[in-house]
Amino acid sequence: MDYPIWDFAMGGGMLMALVAVPHVIVAHFAVGGGLLIAVTETLGVRRNDPELRELAKRSSLVLILVSTVYGAISGVGIWVVAGLISPGAISSLIHNYVWGWAIEWVFFILEIVAALVYYGTWDKISKKAHMLVGWLYFVGAYGSLVVINGIITYQLTPGKWLESHAFWDGFFNPTYWPATLLRTGVALMMAAAFMLFPASKSREAGTRLVRYIGGWLVAGSLISYVGYRWWEAQLGETTRALFLGESPTLASLAATRSFTLWALAAALVLGIVFLLIVPRSIKAIVPGILVMVAAFAFFGGWERLREGSRKPFLIHSHLFSNGLLVEDIERINSAGLQAYTGWASTGGLDDPIEVGRRVFKIQCAACHTLGGYRSITEALPTFQEMLAVTANDPPGSGAAAFEAGCASCHRDSNFEEMVEFMPGADEMKEDPEMVTDLLVGMITGTLEQLRDMGQAYVDADRSVQFDTQTTAYPMMPPFVGNDEDLEALATFLGTLTHDGASTVLTGGGE
Ligand code: HEC
Ligand code: HEC
Repeated sequence: MDYPIWDFAMGGGMLMALVAVPHVIVAHFAVGGGLLIAVTETLGVRRNDPELRELAKRSSLVLILVSTVYGAISGVGIWVVAGLISPGAISSLIHNYVWGWAIEWVFFILEIVAALVYYGTWDKISKKAHMLVGWLYFVGAYGSLVVINGIITYQLTPGKWLESHAFWDGFFNPTYWPATLLRTGVALMMAAAFMLFPASKSREAGTRLVRYIGGWLVAGSLISYVGYRWWEAQLGETTRALFLGESPTLASLAATRSFTLWALAAALVLGIVFLLIVPRSIKAIVPGILVMVAAFAFFGGWERLREGSRKPFLIHSHLFSNGLLVEDIERINSAGLQAYTGWASTGGLDDPIEVGRRVFKIQCAACHTLGGYRSITEALPTFQEMLAVTANDPPGSGAAAFEAGCASCHRDSNFEEMVEFMPGADEMKEDPEMVTDLLVGMITGTLEQLRDMGQAYVDADRSVQFDTQTTAYPMMPPFVGNDEDLEALATFLGTLTHDGASTVLTGGGE
């Protein structure tokens, strides 16, 4: 919370997804490819099967190019983007896991060096030595996966670390082993999906090689499925409630989960049909692309599910997505945000709107944009929505507008009751100030609820994972700050939600 904010129109989360999704796909391909190529070459040599060996050789160029060039550059990109959008989280992760990252980089160097040597020494050194380099590559690549996996799973399920703050307690957390298994399966799927293409190119042995790759794809899918079920079972009850059960808290996350599992089923079925039963079909490119898309969709879906189910935390029960530490809630509420962050109040202090804008950037911008993805004006009631509800023109549209724009906060009332409380449409147009006051009042009330929510975190047992389901807004961090901060934010948000007023008025020919 005490770092300046990188203001980015698209929203940091979106940018992170754009950089991270291709990176993790390639990274898993690099790991699985390492295993597949090493095994394939070894089998080729042992069985004296030149076609298998040739497949390993042909695949290794793609592997080298993709993993060393794209994988490495996009990996650096992830650090840059993550450091810019959530410096607090990166700082925390580095402080806790500096030796984890160090080990990771050693594995990475081994991976890169082995990859280059492997590609450069085909038919130049003895077969045995060459196979050894291939296996070294796999050790480096897999080693980097199992290390990073410890840190990533810790973010979602820190487990005993919450009590002990000990390195290994965080590393071998409840989802560590299931996620390792799942990622191993994913790595095999990614590698098989890529290697399909070099396999199908072999003129004499195409069918046989495609079946061989198909075997790996099917094995990877089954391993992924077991890993996924195990992973889900190890999540806390509260995390599971976000996307499972009769009425999951986040419907979109529940949809992501079913998408993920259907994509896995599709990858498995397509793999069995196209690669094992009619391997000739791969010559036609499209079936191969379908298999690949299904495999990517499964993996991408699961990564989204994993990230989404961590909401509102970056490190569960410890650090929120906006950089707020659970242990700082009380201190900021009493001292005030402006005293706490240092930079929020420099310059422009007299203008509550300016202060409010900064409070928004500090506390809300990690998840909400002003007008783009998860826009804050969509979350808040606006002048136009108020007008649409009251005017009810054409008849029936008011109730729809209420459902869309008001019901989430006004669960206790319905459209008819609400309209009785509200000024008429003409009154609103004549006196927009009154509507602004009403809007700011609603925003203030919501922010107060969000601030009260902090008490639940303060009172909770800090040595176990927090049950976000017990709060009014399970997917959001509490608001922190004193009354002055809260008022400033409400004033600023009031200007946004009211902006619609001028367009409505001029549009109405006033
Ligand atoms: C960790 C991410 C995150 C942060 C930080 C965050 N929000 Fe949200 N907020 C969400 C999500 C996700 C939703 C939508 C929930 C849904 O779709 O059901 C939401 C919804 C809302 C809503 C609509 C609530 C409703 O029931 O309709 C309001 C109002 C809101 N946020 C205000 C804020 C304000 C103000 C801040 C800063 C003090 C903030 N949020 C910070 C994630 C966040
Ligand atoms: C982000 C949550 C939120 C949304 C969305 C929202 N409201 Fe409210 N509204 C509140 C809160 C909180 C209060 C109570 C304010 C207070 O404490 O004074 C309130 C109060 C009101 C009141 C004053 C009377 C009363 O029931 O207390 C009216 C009228 C009202 N809202 C209308 C609407 C309409 C119409 C919409 C949809 C266009 C809407 N609200 C959308 C949070 C919201």
